[in-house]
Amino acid sequence: MTSFVGRTRLLANLKRHLAESRLVTVTGIGGVGKSRTVLRLAHQIRTQYPDGVWFADLARLQDAGMVKHTIASALGIADQSSRNETDSLAEWVGDRDMLLIIDTCEHLVQGCAELIHELLESAPNLKVLATSRQSLQLPYEHVVPVPPLQVPGDDPVESLFTNESVQLFSARAGAVVPDFVLEEQNIAAVAELCRRLDGIPLAIELAAVRLRALSVEQILGLLADRFSLLAGASRTALPRHQTLRAAIGWSHELCEPAERLLWARLSVFSGDFELDAARFVCADERLPAEEITNLVTGLVEKSILMIRSNHAGVRYKLIDTLAEYGEEWLDKLGQTQDLRHRHLAYYLNLAQRSEDAWSGPRQVYWFIRMRQEHDNVRLALEHALRTPGESVLALRLLSSLWFMWVCCGFQREGRLYLERALEANRAVSKERCKALWVLSYVRSAQGDSVGALDAAERCSKEAVRVGDSRAVILASKMQGTAAVLQGDLQKASALLGVAIEFNTDNKELNPGLLPAIVELSLVLSAQGEFIEAESLLQDCLQVCKERGELWVGSYAQWAMSLTKLATGRAGDALQSAREALRVKRHFHDTLGTLLVLETTARIFAALGREPLAARLLGALQQNWKTAGLPMLGAPFMTSDHDQCVKECQKAMGEHLYAQALGDGARLDLDEASALALGELDASENDPG
Ligand SMILES: Nc1ncnc2c1ncn2[C@@H]1O[C@H](COP(=O)(O)OP(=O)(O)OP(=O)(O)O)[C@@H](O)[C@H]1O
Ligand SMILES: [Mg+2]
Repeated sequence: MTSFVGRTRLLANLKRHLAESRLVTVTGIGGVGKSRTVLRLAHQIRTQYPDGVWFADLARLQDAGMVKHTIASALGIADQSSRNETDSLAEWVGDRDMLLIIDTCEHLVQGCAELIHELLESAPNLKVLATSRQSLQLPYEHVVPVPPLQVPGDDPVESLFTNESVQLFSARAGAVVPDFVLEEQNIAAVAELCRRLDGIPLAIELAAVRLRALSVEQILGLLADRFSLLAGASRTALPRHQTLRAAIGWSHELCEPAERLLWARLSVFSGDFELDAARFVCADERLPAEEITNLVTGLVEKSILMIRSNHAGVRYKLIDTLAEYGEEWLDKLGQTQDLRHRHLAYYLNLAQRSEDAWSGPRQVYWFIRMRQEHDNVRLALEHALRTPGESVLALRLLSSLWFMWVCCGFQREGRLYLERALEANRAVSKERCKALWVLSYVRSAQGDSVGALDAAERCSKEAVRVGDSRAVILASKMQGTAAVLQGDLQKASALLGVAIEFNTDNKELNPGLLPAIVELSLVLSAQGEFIEAESLLQDCLQVCKERGELWVGSYAQWAMSLTKLATGRAGDALQSAREALRVKRHFHDTLGTLLVLETTARIFAALGREPLAARLLGALQQNWKTAGLPMLGAPFMTSDHDQCVKECQKAMGEHLYAQALGDGARLDLDEASALALGELDASENDPG
């Protein structure tokens, strides 16, 4: 949100290195402008990469084990299958012609270097641009150091007025004091200040904030005192990183004691946070909640906090280098554990609220909200898993967020964490029971029906031991789901029937009741009992409509399209399938989208539009690879799919079919949805 200054030569240099090398690492001290420069570069060269420029920020990541996952999620990779994450990452990148930017690698250098190496080896057209305070030590890496900005005097013929550091100071000063102008009277002091600050952008920005209360000369005077104090008798210049620390320390002292404390406490957040979160996590008798708002405003004015607004509201973020400083301070105060605990408590509470609200009219809102808090949830989970006595809270947090893992396309992450949390909590408990049925659900959504059954059976056994009847019922629901996938229709209908019967009086619709109804309807359809299936689905859709529930509703529409197709009403089936697809777009429901697209392909074939069906089949073949087991490995879907392939081949002939399949394979999931919805090409629009 602030203007970018100078760096013309550095940017040109980086472009040249990127043209020559597949891995460029931008190095430099904290606050020197690595991230900002790289973002600028990304903006300038984004059109040069047909498959895009992608940005992954590792700044607040603590767990080396999550590097791959963070990058995959920055790439929007929908791979939720149960296979090795490096493989799926490499496969997704494949021969894409793209640039991957990985910002802030220094604390995870080894993990980053290994991953980058593997990716570059397997993906011939990939380039990587990393930023790190230290190089990654890979033999073919081109290291480009980011020096501080030019300071006045570096170039004897340059005018003071056009110097980069001076320009930056002046730009930031203008934001603080609107009538600030660089002129003959103040230019010498500004130039000296920039020299003193070694041209480090962050240090210059922090100093400029002072203009609110001081003149440039006063700032310079105070800074000079402080530096000579730090440099002591040696009178040598401070090393650069000390300059920055001194500038930060100076900003720190300028804050009110309460602001300082808040700064330290806010360092427990990962990335950005909302005001409510700051109030809950950071308030106590020393920092009353009602004062937090004002203190936050004070920190924004001092450029300690960045403010970000989007459609979902206002969020705040500590600048990276300043967050580190805050962390150290918090540690010195001995409050780190306490604050981490409160951070966890806040997100646990939020997760529980989102779970309670999930089946209601605000489903999309809660998805977006929890997606926004994803980094903070991860951090809270890592704390809980690491801290003796708190790991049971990890189980609670993870289980409450079942809808994120299952419905919103984060199966793989959910599974990873659930398995870790269960490992850390081996004693039988209600928390474990819930985590086990959630794990079963997640595994089913990956097509791992054997693993799903195993988790559900364990859930059932343990639930009997702790006397948790609700978990027993949910275990049978999840066993039923796994049985559907295995094509064991009798077992499935018995188990789902139990779940439905025992849940009918329960207020909770999800995931015990409504999904069980939809799944039972699939079983009925597979047995040829279409009328019964449709009547179940109609009831289910009615409930969803009354409650404003969308997600299960979209599955019910999909199941409806299956019965309609099977009973010769392909036109109606298309309407239901499209209705389902439109809802899926609100969530990040990759799995659901793929399932509906499978059916849509069959519908098009039934409507005599085989070329369109074949293109969808191509897109499906490609996109299932990263989504999990194709058709979840369920026999009833696999055989329908094979049938559809045969019909298309017969109608189109091998050659044209292969061509359409190849065309489709280039579509990503959104494009494939658009194709199915008749949005991609007007001629494909289907009035019926
Ligand atoms: N060329 C520039 N023009 C304007 N502002 C800049 C420029 N370079 C850096 N800044 C500002 O200076 C501050 C520090 O920059 P940045 O965060 O990019 O540093 P960094 O080297 O990535 O630090 P860290 O090692 O802590 O990640 C930011 O507020 C950034 O906006
Ligand atoms: Mg950075």
